[in-house]
Amino acid sequence: MTIPTPHINVSEKGIIAETVLMPGDPLRAKFIAETYLDNPVEFNNVRNMFGYTGSYKGKKISIMGSGMGMPSIGIYSYELIHFYGVKNIIRIGSCGAIQEDIKIRDIVIGISASTNSNYASQYELPGTFAPTASWTLAKKAIDMAESKGIPTRVGNILSSDIFYDDDPDTWRKWARMGVLAIEMEAAALYMNAARAGANALCILTVSDSLVSHEVTTSEERQTSFTNMMEIALELA
Ligand code: HPA
Repeated sequence: MTIPTPHINVSEKGIIAETVLMPGDPLRAKFIAETYLDNPVEFNNVRNMFGYTGSYKGKKISIMGSGMGMPSIGIYSYELIHFYGVKNIIRIGSCGAIQEDIKIRDIVIGISASTNSNYASQYELPGTFAPTASWTLAKKAIDMAESKGIPTRVGNILSSDIFYDDDPDTWRKWARMGVLAIEMEAAALYMNAARAGANALCILTVSDSLVSHEVTTSEERQTSFTNMMEIALELA
């Protein structure tokens, strides 16, 4: 396959930065690019999955939506890494907390991503694979958060294929294993990066709690979102 790829309408290398931040929502990507980047230029609009390249504190960085779920982030991260020379992908998203001591608005860094998905079966491994974040990116993000006085929780997250589970208590089994929170993309991103020798990380804000049934107000979401962005943008 050559560029442009089926899902990213860019026919030259170098237009997309080596580091890409990926929120799930493409309009969120647009908002981030317009709010935080200098000279953002749109590079993709295929299926309205907007992508932008600009600079942050003088460093080139791209922001592009991933869509929801592992098939979607699987497609976009694969094309970015294999066809556009992307080296670092940082997912920035939201998650549902499944531990009592993780509260809405907290920031969770997924050092590993357990999953109920079958994504790893393509690698035909003689066992189970542990999708893991890049230690370099994770350490940088944790150090950055500490230096800014932003508290984070670092641990195992669950990348689930199911948002509306037939059994509403399934999450409790993952919680028993110490998993911090549920989202829907990180495991596929970590596997694509691992297979290609690239770096990936997932930083999340807690939007709801399956334990307390609390949800964030839009105001609260904004504060934790800003904190998460301050960490993620410094990874360029
Ligand atoms: N489940 C899966 N993904 C999510 C959730 C959740 O409860 N909250 C935010 N993203």
